[in-house]
Formats: sequence, C-alpha cells, structure tokens
Amino acid sequence: MCGIFAYLNYLTPKTRREILELLVNGLKRLEYRGYDSAGVALDAADGKDISIVKKKGKVKVLEDEINSRINELDFEGTTDSHVGIAHTRWATHGVPSEVNSHPQRSDVNHAFVVVHNGIVTNYKDVKVFLLKKGYQFESETDTEVIAKLVHHIYLQNPNCSFRELIEQVIQQLEGAFALCFKSKHFPGECVATRRGSPLLVGIKAKTRLATDHVPILYSKDEQPVATDAESQNPDHRPHGRGDLPILPRSDSTAEFQPLEDKEVEYFFASDASAVIEHTNRVIFLEDDDVAAVKEGSLSIHRLRRSLDDSHSREIITLKMEIQQIMKGNYSSFMQKEIFEQPESVVNTMRGRLNFETQTVILGGIKDYIPEIRRCRRLMMIGCGTSYHSAVATRQLLEELTELPVMVELASDFLDRNTPVFRDDVCFFISQSGETADTLMALRYCKNRGALIVGITNTVGSSICRESHCGVHINAGPEIGVASTKAYTSQFISLVMFALVMSEDRISLQARRSEIIKGLQHLDEQIREVLKLDEKVEELAKDLYQHKSLLIMGRGYNYATCMEGALKVKELTYMHSEGIMAGELKHGPLALVDNNMPVIMIVTRDPVYVKCMIALQQVTAREGRPIIICEKGDRETQSFASRSLEVPHTVDCLQGILTVIPMQLLSYHIAVLKGCNVDCPRNLAKSVTVE
Ligand code: UD1
Ligand code: GLU
Ligand code: MG
Repeated sequence: MCGIFAYLNYLTPKTRREILELLVNGLKRLEYRGYDSAGVALDAADGKDISIVKKKGKVKVLEDEINSRINELDFEGTTDSHVGIAHTRWATHGVPSEVNSHPQRSDVNHAFVVVHNGIVTNYKDVKVFLLKKGYQFESETDTEVIAKLVHHIYLQNPNCSFRELIEQVIQQLEGAFALCFKSKHFPGECVATRRGSPLLVGIKAKTRLATDHVPILYSKDEQPVATDAESQNPDHRPHGRGDLPILPRSDSTAEFQPLEDKEVEYFFASDASAVIEHTNRVIFLEDDDVAAVKEGSLSIHRLRRSLDDSHSREIITLKMEIQQIMKGNYSSFMQKEIFEQPESVVNTMRGRLNFETQTVILGGIKDYIPEIRRCRRLMMIGCGTSYHSAVATRQLLEELTELPVMVELASDFLDRNTPVFRDDVCFFISQSGETADTLMALRYCKNRGALIVGITNTVGSSICRESHCGVHINAGPEIGVASTKAYTSQFISLVMFALVMSEDRISLQARRSEIIKGLQHLDEQIREVLKLDEKVEELAKDLYQHKSLLIMGRGYNYATCMEGALKVKELTYMHSEGIMAGELKHGPLALVDNNMPVIMIVTRDPVYVKCMIALQQVTAREGRPIIICEKGDRETQSFASRSLEVPHTVDCLQGILTVIPMQLLSYHIAVLKGCNVDCPRNLAKSVTVE
C-alpha cells in the first residue's frame, strides 16, 4: 500500500553515494502517498554481504542515518553492476518500527531481502510452516514470511534460478502484493512481481531500444487455460498451499536484449513518479508477472499461458510531468482518495471476509466476542466523520446484535460525564487513532472498567495501543484533511463486526448472507458511482454560488446527509446541514423555498414511503430538490428535474454508495470556489488537541 523503489545498474559505473542518493530520492518521490517508516538495502562495502538501513519516520530520518554512516557504507566506492531496493512502509502488520520496516530479510546473513506493498493474508499459515522448518522471526510483519520462504525454497532447490524461486514463492501467497527481491546468492540480479498492487519497470539506456515489446515467457508449456477465477479474484491461489511444488526448469533463453551496447539501468517502482526523472520508458506489470533482470537482460515470465493473455508487455513512453504523475490524474489527494475507494473497501475486507463460505473473522477482536455478546450495551464514540460512520451502522448493529447501541460525539459524551459500567463495550472510532476527544473518552471509559474496542486506520496509534482490542480498517494512508475512504472503510468494519456478532443466530442467516453478497459487489458498484463525476461537476456549477445547501434523508441514509453536509462545510466553507427528513415539519421546512438548494436522498428501503412524503413536502413549498436515488427509479426521479442514480445494494450498505456523490460534490464545489481541497482553512488532519 505504500512505496517501492529499486534501482539496478548494469555495466554503468556508479559510486555508492550516487546509488544511495538515487534510492533515497526515489523514496522522496513516493512520500506524497504517506507512510510511517522507510528503508534501503544495497550490497555491503565488502561486496559479500548486504547492508540494510531502516528507520521509523520520514525519509529524511533515513537519509540522515545513511549520511551518518558514510564510512561504513563506503560512499566513495564505485560499482559497475549493482541492485539496490528501497521502501516506504504504511504498516498493516506490526507497529511502525525499525525491525518491522522493509527490506525484510531471510536470515541474519541476508541471503534474500524483500520489499513489499500490500497484505499477505495467509502469512500465519506460511509462518507456521516455516517455524516448523526452524526459521526464527524477528518482525511482526506479514512480509517477513516472504523473505524466509524464498530462502527455504532456495535451500531445497539450489539449482533454481532467482526468478524460478520467486515463481514458486508467489504460488504460496494469498492476498495483495507488489514485491521486489535482492539476493546475496544472485548478485546483480533483481526479481519483481505483483498481484493486486501496482508495479512498473523503467528502462534507461543510452542507445535506442530495439523493440517496444517485451515477450512473455511461460514456465509451464501447457495448453492455455481459462483464467476467469484467476484474473478476477486477486486472492486466488493457483495451487493449493501445502507442500511446495517444484517446477520444471524453464529452458527458454529468449530474454529481452534491447540494446547494442549492454549498458543499461532498470528501475522498479510502485508509482511512475519515482522513475520519470530517470526514464520515460516503462512497462506496467500485470498480476502474476514475474520480471527478472539478469546480466542486464530483462525477461517477463508467467507461470502458464491463459487464453486471454497478450504475448508481450508493451514498453510505454510516459509523457507526463512529475507533478502530474504524483497525483495521477487527480488534482488533489482528496480526489485521489475518493477514487481509491473501490480498492480501499476491498483492503478492509481482505483476509477477513470469505465470500464463498460466508464467514467473517476479525482477528483483532475474535477473542473478545464472547465477552462482547454478554455486554449490556454497545457505545460507539467518535468525532466528525468517524462519528458519522457509527450513525450509519447503528441500525444494523441494533438489528444484528440485538443490543442497545448508543452513538456518541466524544466531546459531548465527556461533557455529560455519561455513566459507563463494567459491562459496557465501548468502540472508539478514529482514522488517525490520535483524535484527542476520542482518546480522552477512551480513557474515561477504561477507568470505569468497560471493554475498549478501537476502530482505527493507523497501526501503533494511541487508540490502537490503549484499546483492549480492535480493528485496523486498512484503508491505506489518508492524506486529504477531509476524510473520504476512511469513512467507507470504517463503515465496512462496523458492518463486519455486526456480521460476526450474528454468526450463530439462525434467524439472521438470510439477512447476513444478503449483506455479505452486497459487500462482495461493493467495489464494482463504487466504480459505477464514480462515473457520475462529470454529472456531479455540472451540479456543482449550479450550486457553488449559493449560500447554503440542505441535505435531507432518513433511515440508513441519514448518516450520508450529515457526512455530506460536513464535507461541504469543511471543503467549501458554505453553510450546509444534514437534515433528518422526519424532522422537516418540526422546523427545517421553514427554510425551504424556490431558492434554497436541497438534496434529498431517497432509496428503496424501509423508509421509502416516508421519504416520498418529505419530498412532496419540499416540492409543495416550491423547493426544487436534487435527488439521489437508486438506478432506474423513474418514479422517484419524476419528482425532480435533477437526479443522481446510484446502483441498488442491500439497504444497510446503501449509505456507502450514496455518500460518494456527496464527496464528489463537495470536492467540485471547493474547486469552483478556489478553496484548498487538501488543506481546508482552520482544520488539521489529526485533531490532537481538545
Ligand atoms: C490482520 C492484519 C491486517 C489484515 C488482516 C487479514 C495485523 C496487525 N493486521 O488483522 O492488516 O488485514 O490480518 O489478513 O496483523 N487493535 C487494537 N485496537 C485497534 C485496532 C487493532 O487493539 O484500534 C489490535 C487488535 O486487537 C489486534 C491487533 O491490534 O490484536 C491487530 O488488529 P487487526 O489488524 O484489526 O487484526 P486482524 O484482523 O487479525
Ligand atoms: N503488510 C506489510 C507490512 O505491514 C507492507 C505494508 C505496506 O504496504 O507498506 O509491513
Ligand atoms: Mg490495543
């Protein structure tokens, strides 16, 4: 989920200082993605060992550490052919610390070192296997199993090439990864691969490349096989894990020989922004490609041919400026994060929700489930967007846990000296895990003996440490101050908790199964909602000069109204209010006339009829609402001249799809008003003061 950068020079003399600078600068280009620690690995000065430098914190800290070790790292030494790998980490497994940073190593002798982006979901099984083989683990990461597994396979198959070893390794891994390897046993060689996490190879040569395609080599010369399951499910496992299969040696030698002279440099990176200053010739690897450089030649391998495979990977010429690449096609982090939601929601469920068996395991709270089932009530405590995620899921929590659920703003909860008891279970929801009010409320409840559960996006944060148990939502680093993808991932984490709580209630099985199916299709549906972007932009043009925007809805969509209004306030400085549609006649209706912008969220859920009454109350006052409704719902759309359609999903998940148009709308209004989208005035990303 964070950054990979690797650099290989072949017959291209470089000083070690130059190589280290290159690696560190590569990491600096990836800094904008957010991370918590960084590290590099290169050949040791003696040419025999591998040196690893890792540091918790910013790349600058790593750079200072490197500069303080000039002699040991032999800055002035030169090398003709060399491989260095580097990483910025955003922890998913194990707190940010030096030992958990990457590169991770196979053993104290550094036979193999690896950098990894993503999550290996079956790392526990692999670890058990390796522990039995006598491996000792030093970090808490999932990544360490990869380094040790290559080593194990290497010892079993000393004649295999580096690339063949990695091919065997990835057959044993489940989850998402981009990986880059270096080995003492294969000096000057680099192997990289990916599944579900981006990775590209940059090629820099003095002479023109002889080709713009790199052929794909297949290790198993079989008939092509269909790969629907493979290509659609990033968690697929081509072979069962268990005993490691030994592959037949591939005898193909058709490596990529692009050049007349052999001097060449290669870059491996998770993001084009890190390579563009060196070369604009890149290959984007595809899932399960294994790219290997040996003696300056690049080859791309796949285990077996499949029907829909193209037979080569194109070398693309990037025509972008660094600035442009950094944010991709996005103008701000917030926009990028909105568009990342199809992936971030999958990461939240990865390794936890098994769609085939319809089981949900939240490793971080499973041991506490019996205690939670016995509690007297659930309290959900947070601030701002995190609070809204609790509002959004409260009804489902009540339905599936059959417990009273209180939803509280941390500041107000503290103001009231709310009574809390030993048999209460209190959830603390915070993206950063450092939100001051939420943390104070946590301590208050902990002092009163309640069970403390954290829902956080940041491993090692205060809330994570001080809670008894919890869930890391794994949304990936969120840089934009206004939270977007963390909200949808908090939402999903709480839904998964509700599913866990109801797993042995026979009467609730049909409902659970419907929800799990809904979760399975969320990523595609979010992609579909994101296609509304241009339409939303048009609406923003009508709205941005107004003073106020009312957002109305009820039931499962009430949270979307509040969260939507919060986004509008934060980003556009425009007045906005989320209004519970059931409350209209108790006051808010007085605001409605033919000038007041109104958005109404009306989906086909149990409160549909009531929403339609509210809608008619608004139109009867000459209000001209914009409607957010389900796709194809012409009847509802006939009450308004403008509408946005989102796909239909299970009622309790609909809020995930209805909030996205609101995120987009607030973003576009902010841009039109010239506001700084990523850093709204007066606000900070993590509110660590009361
Ligand atoms: C683990 C991985 C997670 C991955 C999942 C499925 C870790 C740290 N996490 O998650 O990235 O998606 O397997 O492969 O290995 N905790 C708190 N308070 C919080 C959050 C968490 O105390 O606010 C504790 C939990 O109780 C647990 C630990 O932190 O002891 C890890 O939590 P979590 O990451 O949610 O656990 P898994 O679901 O097992
Ligand atoms: N899962 C790995 C870890 O926690 C990699 C995280 C990342 O993508 O940076 O160390
Ligand atoms: Mg904890």
